[in-house]
Amino acid sequence: MTAPISAWERIVPVSLGSRSYDIVINEGGTSQAGPLLASWLKLDTAKGLRILLIADAAVYDRHGDAVQRSLEASGAEVRSAIVPSGEQTKSYAQTQALYDHLVNMTADRKTLVVAVGGGVTGDLAGFVAATYARGLRFVQVPTTLLSMVDSSVGGKTGINHPRGKNLIGAFHQPIGVIIDLATLSTLPDREYRSGLAEVVKYGVILDETFFEFLEQNISGLNSRDPEVLRHVIARSCELKADVVRQDEYETTGLRAVLNYGHTLGHAFEALAGYGALLHGEAISIGMICASRLAESLGRIAASDTQRQSDLLSALNLPVTVPSDMQNRHDDIVRCMMLDKKTEGRELRFVLPSRIGHVETVRGISPDIALRCLRSL
Ligand SMILES: NC(=O)c1ccc[n+]([C@@H]2O[C@H](COP(=O)([O-])OP(=O)(O)OC[C@H]3O[C@@H](n4cnc5c(N)ncnc54)[C@H](O)[C@@H]3O)[C@@H](O)[C@H]2O)c1
Ligand SMILES: [Zn+2]
Repeated sequence: MTAPISAWERIVPVSLGSRSYDIVINEGGTSQAGPLLASWLKLDTAKGLRILLIADAAVYDRHGDAVQRSLEASGAEVRSAIVPSGEQTKSYAQTQALYDHLVNMTADRKTLVVAVGGGVTGDLAGFVAATYARGLRFVQVPTTLLSMVDSSVGGKTGINHPRGKNLIGAFHQPIGVIIDLATLSTLPDREYRSGLAEVVKYGVILDETFFEFLEQNISGLNSRDPEVLRHVIARSCELKADVVRQDEYETTGLRAVLNYGHTLGHAFEALAGYGALLHGEAISIGMICASRLAESLGRIAASDTQRQSDLLSALNLPVTVPSDMQNRHDDIVRCMMLDKKTEGRELRFVLPSRIGHVETVRGISPDIALRCLRSL
């Protein structure tokens, strides 16, 4: 049996030698999970495969059971493990519980892990797959826009240490990713817009034509038009996959361009108290602050910052520093100094020079960053 391919489907290949895989983008992919998996494994059916399906509690009933039914209809034996929604799930305790599930089902190296949910589920399930029995094959079914365009591309998996986010992890590429646009219909509005911030980021850092497409399709983006989303998700995945292909293990520095807006964004996210500002909302503000910093250094035209700000605002994303943080500039700089993007007493920023191009700029003193924040 081969996977059904509709004319509407887009496939983004992620080329990483023997670790290459496809991202399939369509509507209805969750109910084609069995045939898709079989085709990736070059099998006629999924008969005889043993699978641990790990799903977010808010997602299992809505989308996870369709994945499970499709896998079972193709002959696989599926156990499911439902994990609570939220960042605190990327924990030792949940990791241990999932290892226990695998032990209880006497999993071996042929067992597969399928993750259904957002970035939290994908990072946790991917980490369990990377580490159990020295590595199980793994499929991602991302159900948030952020996980579709960001966390399910690139093979970073991990959990949080009580004192730091994503401190424990591994690179582990999936064997395939299923993006079913229909799953986005249940995603809450703020979560959807948070994902759009990362989409805008790809345009600013790598592709002016894509940025223009976003500017021209604001109403389609706001109404979650599937035609617009199919292109936007596919192009975002292609852009990230291309960066990952050139710097899979973050050794050449190229992958750092993906951090545009994140040095300041992480500080806002942490100071607001995790959860008060969603990640994409913090990144939206962080991108505008970084672009203003680039302006103050004479690296970019004010009109290019304005274009970013206009687009983000049209997508209902915040672009100004929240009022409760206006007087906390010193805290913001201190927080950035604790971030991993510092070198000695100096900060490292990804700054745009025009729409579609960024550079990593080293040696920015905390004073310059502070002066820029005060002028916002
Ligand atoms: N591995 C990477 O390269 C990478 C990159 C970026 C982010 N991340 C990680 O991703 C995580 C954030 O991912 P996220 O934004 O997807 O968050 P998430 O997984 O917490 O999902 C956000 C919320 O949406 C709910 N949800 C998910 N899909 C839904 C759907 N279709 N319908 C209704 N509700 C749904 C979830 O229950 C949750 O409450 C962070 O932990 C971050 O560290 C990893
Ligand atoms: Zn991000």
